[in-house]
Amino acid sequence: MAARCSARPPGLAMHVAARIGSPVGPAGRFGFSASAGPQPAEVVERITDACRVPHRSILALPFTSPEYRAIQAGVDRLLRQLLAVPDDFDILFMGCGASAHFALVPLNLLGGRERALHVLSGHWSRRAIVEARRYCNVSVLSAAEAIVAAPAPDGAAYCHYTSNETADGLQFHRLPATPLPLVADMTSDLLTATPDWKRFGLVYAGAQKTLGVAGLSIVIVRRDLLGPPHPLTPRVMAYAALSAAASRLCTPPVFAMFAALCMLEWMAGEGGVGSMQARLARRAAAVYAVIDRHPGFYRPRVDVAWRSRVTPCFDLPDAARTARFIAAAQAAGLYDLAGHPDVGGVRVSLYNGLSDDAVDALAAFMHDYAQRGGLA
Ligand SMILES: Cc1ncc(COP(=O)(O)O)c(C=O)c1O
Repeated sequence: MAARCSARPPGLAMHVAARIGSPVGPAGRFGFSASAGPQPAEVVERITDACRVPHRSILALPFTSPEYRAIQAGVDRLLRQLLAVPDDFDILFMGCGASAHFALVPLNLLGGRERALHVLSGHWSRRAIVEARRYCNVSVLSAAEAIVAAPAPDGAAYCHYTSNETADGLQFHRLPATPLPLVADMTSDLLTATPDWKRFGLVYAGAQKTLGVAGLSIVIVRRDLLGPPHPLTPRVMAYAALSAAASRLCTPPVFAMFAALCMLEWMAGEGGVGSMQARLARRAAAVYAVIDRHPGFYRPRVDVAWRSRVTPCFDLPDAARTARFIAAAQAAGLYDLAGHPDVGGVRVSLYNGLSDDAVDALAAFMHDYAQRGGLA
C-alpha cells in the first residue's frame, strides 16, 4: 500500500489541545474543575501507554476479550476492597451519566411502591427530585431536618440524598436519620470515606470526578433490593438484568473502565480510602483557612457544619469581583474555578487525583490576591 503523506495541516483537534493548557502560571498549570477530576501523572502515563499499543490499543479493545474481562473484574475487586463493600452488594457498571440514575433508581427500586423520601440539599438533589416525581410520589425533607428527624413516610421504598452537593459546596457529615434504606448520589465524594453499608441500599456515582474519566457510572446495590423494574425500563438499564449479565448487556465503556482501574490501583498504592480521606481533610483545611483569614473578602456559601471537604464554594463581595478573581486565577495557571453555571461563585474541587502542589499554589494565590484587595 502506498505511504500516506503525513504533512497534514494541524486540525481543530490539535488547535484545541494546544489551547487547553495555556497560559501556564508561575507555579505551573492546575485544573480545579468540578465536572471532571484530574489524574495523577503516573495514571495518565499508564493510560497513554495503553492507547499507544500498536494495532490493538485500549481504544479498540473488544469487551468480549479476556483482557476486558480482567479489567472489569479488577475494578470490581478494588472497589470492594477499598470501600469494604459487603458480599451481599452487587456492583454494576453502566455507560451513562450519574443523572440517568435520578430516573433509574425509582424505575428499578420502587418494587411496586409508590413513594420515595428525598432530601433536598441543593442543585443535584433538586434535579433528582424533579426526575423522581415523574415516576412516584416524593416526600421531601431539608438537609437540616434529615439528620435529626427519622421519618419513614407510609409506603416509601427508600430515602435518596446527595452526599456532596457539588454545585453548592454542601456535604453531609452525618447520615440522614430515617430508618429507610439510604440511596446516595456519591458522584463527587465516592472513595473519600467508607460508607456505613448497614444503612445503605444503593450508592451510585459517575466515574469522572474521583474515579477516572467520563462515560462510566457505578451502582453498588444490596442484592435483595433488586426486583423486577418498572415495565417500561429499558432492559439495558434494568439493574437486575445488568446484575444477571455481569453489566454486559450492551458495549460497556471500555476506555473509562480502564481509566478507573488505573485510578483504583493508584489509590490502593497510596494507602486506600483512609489516606484519601486524610489528604482531603488537610486540603480542605488549607482552602478554608485562607477563606476564614480574609472574612468579607471570601464569603463561604454554607455554615461550617455543612462545609464540603471536596468542593469548597465561596463568593467574593459581588459578581464583578468574583469574575475578576476567576480571570486572575486563570492567568496564574489556576483553571476552572468558576462555580456551576446555575449557581455562580467560585468552586474549588479537591478530587482525589489532584496534586498537593495544586492546593498549595491555589492557597498561596488566594491569600496574595486578598492581601492585594483584588488589585492586579
Ligand atoms: C452530585 C452530582 N450528581 C450528579 C451529577 C451529574 O453527573 P453526570 O453528568 O454524570 O450525569 C453531578 C455532576 O456534577 C454531581 O456532582
